[in-house]
Amino acid sequence: MKIIGTGSALPSLVVTNDMIVDILDTSDEWITTRTGVKERRILTEETLTDIAVEAAKKALEDANMASTDLDYIICSNLVNSYATPSLSSIIQGGIGASCPCLDINVACAGFVYALDISEAFLKIGKVKNILIICAEEPSRIVDWTQREISILFGDGAAAAVITKGDDLKAMHLSTTSTIDALYYHRKMEYNPFNTKNENTGPLVMNGKEIYKMAVSASTTEISKVLNDTGLSADDISYFICHQANLRIIEAIRQHLNQPESKFPHNIEKYGNTASATIPILLDELHKSKKLKPGDLLVFSAFGAGFTTGTCIIRWSGNNN
Ligand code: ACO
Repeated sequence: MKIIGTGSALPSLVVTNDMIVDILDTSDEWITTRTGVKERRILTEETLTDIAVEAAKKALEDANMASTDLDYIICSNLVNSYATPSLSSIIQGGIGASCPCLDINVACAGFVYALDISEAFLKIGKVKNILIICAEEPSRIVDWTQREISILFGDGAAAAVITKGDDLKAMHLSTTSTIDALYYHRKMEYNPFNTKNENTGPLVMNGKEIYKMAVSASTTEISKVLNDTGLSADDISYFICHQANLRIIEAIRQHLNQPESKFPHNIEKYGNTASATIPILLDELHKSKKLKPGDLLVFSAFGAGFTTGTCIIRWSGNNN
């Protein structure tokens, strides 16, 4: 596989830490020092579909490809207002494509898992061009009265166009069934024959547990993909890590003993946009011309499940 186009779209409403101080017992200082987040974008007037379609159109334009040239759409999403139909099929209509569509839910590791699926589809020869979209609205699953959780998240969408190529150098995925650390119970409809007590409620997170699991998983997996390829951390141009907490990113950086410049971040502007963090950051790096053909990039993500995904790709760009 290779990535030949990227795009991203964020809601227009900027919610600063000071705006959160108006509704919660917290401070800009606490949020900034504990998480790195200064502001986040929250969907209000727009819908998740609106920004997902916008991100997809930008990625197609960047790849110089028509939506009718797509052979597959993979959408990574945690929760949206439709349990069915899939978000990918809604986005398909929005961009005027006619190919098969598939949603995946691997929480925040969704982009890396979607790359892995794309590589497999391309290898089988099933398809030529794939659109990956990560579209997330975590602001609708958190309890905005819980200051430990709500301050972390933001909404956003990003997309990437994938085609045949030889840019994927290593991939490592894992899932370790761990529900208690991070979960969200969907509300089910009343059923007169099913009298079980069922829990519903906002996102539940054991922040300290996730923190430890995240640092341990990402450092282990990055070492693994480096070993698999015979590369060293010094050979990598950028480590594009899931933007969950700046302190997690910093712990990974220190473990690898690499300069800050190789760990780009935008969590200060957008918070944790779940599976969209890595492709949003990738799009920003690409559009600001920070990526050069031949650069080796590490993507490393973790999320509810507990799922992790880390890969090394060579950036060959799109000749734009
Ligand atoms: N403002 C002010 N004080 C707060 C806030 C807040 N927003 N939130 C918690 N506190 C208080 C706590 O009540 C506690 O007070 P106490 O000492 O009197 O009991 C104190 O601050 C310290 O709380 P901790 O929970 O120990 O804070 P910690 O340093 O662990 O930071 C955090 C919490 C930011 C959630 C951290 O644990 C974290 O980032 N964990 C990882 C989160 C994450 O990555 N989640 C994954 C997201 S989901 C996904 O990506 C799939």
